[in-house]
Amino acid sequence: RKRTAILISGRGSNMTALIRAAGEPDYPAEICCVISDQPEAPGLAVAASSGIPTFVAPRAGHPSKAAHEAEIQRILEQSGAELICLAGFMRILSPDFVKRWEGRIINIHPSLLPLFPGLTTHARVLQQGMRIHGCTVHFVTAEMDAGPIIAQAAVPVLPDDTEGELAARVLNMEHKIYPLALSMLASGKVRMENNRAVYVASLEIGWGP
Ligand code: GAR
Repeated sequence: RKRTAILISGRGSNMTALIRAAGEPDYPAEICCVISDQPEAPGLAVAASSGIPTFVAPRAGHPSKAAHEAEIQRILEQSGAELICLAGFMRILSPDFVKRWEGRIINIHPSLLPLFPGLTTHARVLQQGMRIHGCTVHFVTAEMDAGPIIAQAAVPVLPDDTEGELAARVLNMEHKIYPLALSMLASGKVRMENNRAVYVASLEIGWGP
């Protein structure tokens, strides 16, 4: 089972979905640690209550971004992490850090990328009058929200949706596709090659006719 670190900044509902999936007997990844850059992140207590080692690495405690990332790297090494899942980690990692973890670091984003990178996705989707929306799990590359796509799910935008209702509908799908994407990565069914996601044995994954 691939040792997987989860980086969070807040609530940690995607983290919780990953922890739950990793508790299943045949799941190919185990969660080796949760790291938050926010000391007050509610997700920390959830992880701790599941018996997972938690670490706080605030940016403020470090003189530079490089020093902050060196601290995160130190925790990852100490935890024996082989894979990283960003789950509501609201910081942009440096090209150096991302390069070191290339093909082994993934993120979940609340839109159908390449549409709506960045923040406030649900509000912008409503503003644009989109009739569908969704979420994406992708490999992390130096360019924000632009790495190769591993999995996506779409949801309808209903006529009277508020931002909160739409966000909840998307989040529900996030909790389904993130465990799926991590399991595909951890089991070697998807890998990153030449800036593309390459799938092994699509029939085995259950895709296709
Ligand atoms: C999720 O909707 C995730 O997709 C989003 O933040 C939320 C975190 O919720 N991530 C981003 O916007 C990344 N730029 P969670 O802490 O409950 O998983």
